[in-house]
Amino acid sequence: MTQTLTLRRPDDWHLHLRDGAMMEGVLPSSAAHFARAIIMPNLVPPVVTGDDAAAYRDRILAALPEGADFEPLMTLYLTETTDPDDVRSAAACGLVKAVKLYPAGATTNSASGVRDFDKVRGVLEAMAEIGLPLCVHGEVTRPEIDIFDREAVFIDEVLDPLRRATPGLRVVMEHITTSDAAEYAAGAGDDLGATITVQHLMLDRNDMLVGGIRPHYYCLPILKRGTHRARLVEAATSGDPRYFIGTDSAPHVTDTKEAACGCAGCFTAPVALSCLAEVFDEVDALDKMEGFTSLHGPAFYGLEPNETMITLERGEPVHPPSQLETGAGPVTVFDPNRALHWRVR
Ligand code: NCD
Ligand code: ZN
Repeated sequence: MTQTLTLRRPDDWHLHLRDGAMMEGVLPSSAAHFARAIIMPNLVPPVVTGDDAAAYRDRILAALPEGADFEPLMTLYLTETTDPDDVRSAAACGLVKAVKLYPAGATTNSASGVRDFDKVRGVLEAMAEIGLPLCVHGEVTRPEIDIFDREAVFIDEVLDPLRRATPGLRVVMEHITTSDAAEYAAGAGDDLGATITVQHLMLDRNDMLVGGIRPHYYCLPILKRGTHRARLVEAATSGDPRYFIGTDSAPHVTDTKEAACGCAGCFTAPVALSCLAEVFDEVDALDKMEGFTSLHGPAFYGLEPNETMITLERGEPVHPPSQLETGAGPVTVFDPNRALHWRVR
């Protein structure tokens, strides 16, 4: 007997599509399963103004495969010189759905990020006023802070003071990786959401480092110890509306990851839903999956859930393709190194 799972069509609340030939190569993987996605603005140069976002959106729409039904939800990259009025008008016309905060130097293409939070106060106040969410890459970048502690320190030193100083600001804690972040989210009000990636639900740092270093598991924030992973699974499968999927699917050509100094990012888009179904199935919480993939995110962003449905079915373990060929070069598809029984029909 085939077991099936029918859900409202999911959305991806954190996605890197890149640009040009790479975007053309990876976009079909997201558009096949997800109806909408929050598109990360960390291009080189970054998507900073409303005009940048409109032009990027048009390039994405032009690259969509024939007949695809996919809506890119655009974001602006917050810099110390971002103009609050530009943010207001990009939000008012519906173009931009969030602003992204990267602490300077925290991750891939984040050099133009924020160093001095006083300089972005005006933008944050405007966003609180109009209800535009701030998506936060929550890691401090001070060199003396251990990479495994960067998220927990960020919550205490930056996130909590920032939220207290800007009442009403809607914040998404992006790609949370620790029980510290899950606890903080659980104790917050409905002005806070948190996304969780596939890899942080399936893997811990041992998977990345024991028996050899596995560069395709290297992403930022970095994988943490297993107890954190367990707490994230508990949060994602709890039915709590604060948590929703943000794959953080982040393609890099294979050569740049299998290198002496490899890039951070896991390309999960093609297998994200198969992986999630496996995670929810394992803890007997398939009934909670639709909330995480398809309902909680739209509710946080003030959007309707999708009308259309998708069906996953459980069968013999599937082996996803190991590489996706793109015009920019081959990209290695995330492989959690365990059987995946679920696939999108
Ligand atoms: C992302 C990328 O490659 O753009 N990498 C990653 O490891 N997640 C950047 C990011 O979201 O931190
Ligand atoms: Zn990301």
